[in-house]
Amino acid sequence: MIITARDIGIDLGTSNVVLCARGRGVITREPSVVALDRSTGRILKSGLEAERMLGRTPGNVAALHPLQKGVVCDFELTEYMIRELIKKVVSFSLVKPRVIVSVPSCVTEVEERAVVDAAIAAGARKVCLIEADLAAALGSGMDISKAEGNMVVDVGAGTTDCAVLSLGGIVRSHSVKVAGDAFDEAIIRYIRKKHSLLIGKNTAEELKKNIGCVFPRPEEVGMEVKGRCLMTGLPRVVSISSSEMIEAFDDVSGRIIEAIHAVLEGTPPELVADIAENGIVLTGGGSLLWGFERLIESSTSIKTRCADDAEMCVAYGIVRSLDRIGDMEDGPLNLARKKRLSE
Ligand SMILES: Nc1ncnc2c1ncn2[C@@H]1O[C@H](COP(=O)(O)OP(=O)(O)OP(=O)(O)O)[C@@H](O)[C@H]1O
Ligand SMILES: [Mg+2]
Repeated sequence: MIITARDIGIDLGTSNVVLCARGRGVITREPSVVALDRSTGRILKSGLEAERMLGRTPGNVAALHPLQKGVVCDFELTEYMIRELIKKVVSFSLVKPRVIVSVPSCVTEVEERAVVDAAIAAGARKVCLIEADLAAALGSGMDISKAEGNMVVDVGAGTTDCAVLSLGGIVRSHSVKVAGDAFDEAIIRYIRKKHSLLIGKNTAEELKKNIGCVFPRPEEVGMEVKGRCLMTGLPRVVSISSSEMIEAFDDVSGRIIEAIHAVLEGTPPELVADIAENGIVLTGGGSLLWGFERLIESSTSIKTRCADDAEMCVAYGIVRSLDRIGDMEDGPLNLARKKRLSE
């Protein structure tokens, strides 16, 4: 069924895109992946359909991620993906929709321009950008309208966006290109080094979700993984424990903690006192990694909680922003320049 909508929102994530529309809320969440026929160079499908295709097609079909580390890395594939999303909600092409798209707060002007141009090329009439951390705060149900400090940390797949918000806007923010994907890569590196075993990205993600943790679990858990032995080149099985995961993640979680500290250090003391009172809210799929709240609590002494529906918060925030799309400035936000000016 096609739902006609003139104002739509897209949480354009590294690993998932969420499509929403004004008055309808969230419509679909699907992997941000595009299937491409390598032999002809033809784009075949995007999203869930692309993912479904992959297991069932010959080797010349490749799965490509149009976004890397939160920003557009392939313009044509991003445009295709956005066009397919717009088709789901806009019934005929005479009515071009206005679109709100989320971007990480560390985005450069060139990267902003790529998102805007891709959405225009895909059929949008007006494109407004919103910082992922602002959208995450709005969508987590946090009241940011008061003159009071609140802090949100959105851990996605490609980027972690940390921000302090007050009076409806961002007071201080910092974004690092380290999040869920970096944890997967850390697992692959660790197992290769410690166990001389080569594992794939899917196995690493499975390990992360099942036994991964960034803070000691009350009870140790373990999992067996299959891979290719680097010595013999043959398949081998090893047992991995949750405490090994903490060791593997040390560097990545350290960088996220550093980003949180950097934001807190640059925040006016009165607002920091409010944050100590209100706590830190975690959003994004990456924040579902076991022990994230505890790790942040132990390193900042500020109580931390994971938002309900953490993976959907940015999209929920975009849905709220759609009501005021008429007042929003279109085109690139020039976030990078604004940030430099405020520092
Ligand atoms: N239960 C879980 N435990 C640990 N990690 C998880 C869990 N569920 C999802 N993730 C991770 O969350 C990430 C996806 O989260 P999300 O959809 O918020 O990212 P994204 O919005 O696509 O990325 P970004 O905002 O960085 O561009 C993936 O790295 C995935 O492995
Ligand atoms: Mg995201």
